[in-house]
Amino acid sequence: MARDVIIACDFSNRIEFLEFLSKFNKRKLFVKVGLELFCSEGPDIVLRAKSMENKVFLDLKLHDIPNTVEKAARKISEFGVDMVTVHAAGGREMISAAKKGLSFRKNSTLLLAVTVLTSISQEILTKELLINNTLDEVVKNYALDARESGADGVICSPLEAAEIKRVCGRDFLAVSPGIRYESANDDQVRVSTPKQARELGSDFIVVGRPITNSRDPVGQYDKIIKDFLGKM
Ligand code: C5P
Repeated sequence: MARDVIIACDFSNRIEFLEFLSKFNKRKLFVKVGLELFCSEGPDIVLRAKSMENKVFLDLKLHDIPNTVEKAARKISEFGVDMVTVHAAGGREMISAAKKGLSFRKNSTLLLAVTVLTSISQEILTKELLINNTLDEVVKNYALDARESGADGVICSPLEAAEIKRVCGRDFLAVSPGIRYESANDDQVRVSTPKQARELGSDFIVVGRPITNSRDPVGQYDKIIKDFLGKM
């Protein structure tokens, strides 16, 4: 799949979501449906976005015992989405179970494992989560586990993309949230600009509020596309 910008459509209901999409004048987008919109609207919103010929990243971040995750992934395989997430912290067996569940329907849903959330800093990792390794080590380890367990790639900060590519191989996808032009003083900590993400090797970037909160979402999206892909 070609490198692209994924818009995180963190809206609270279908009306807001469809109104946002309508601004793009039927352009085919790559949209992320996350927990808020999915909990509000259920699978219908995913099928609706697909029927409009958008690519869909379903970001449910599954994290449970392997049997439960496999069964959930089996259901997700029926939606025909392009990407879905699990938490790498669920362990290798859980990631493999997700892969097995997804293969229930022969479609091309990519499985991505969330390494360490881009809202987590080294300080939180050490002091709150009591993980004594460096953040980079933890991310790298999760990426290796994810690859061994059959995932197609990971969710990571652009700051970690180059190292992940080095240890896991060029074809292993690095999908990166935490994209900011300037410090936004929000919950994202390990951030970079779209251009830096391109230079650091991210295959996809996931951008939410810088687009959805903008007064000119289409203009902002086009600017991010240009900066990330290096062309229009
Ligand atoms: O609004 P913002 O650009 O911060 O949105 C980033 C999106 O990426 C959010 O929808 C968030 O759920 C998602 N995400 C993340 N960090 C991860 C995985 C997903 O920020 N590790």
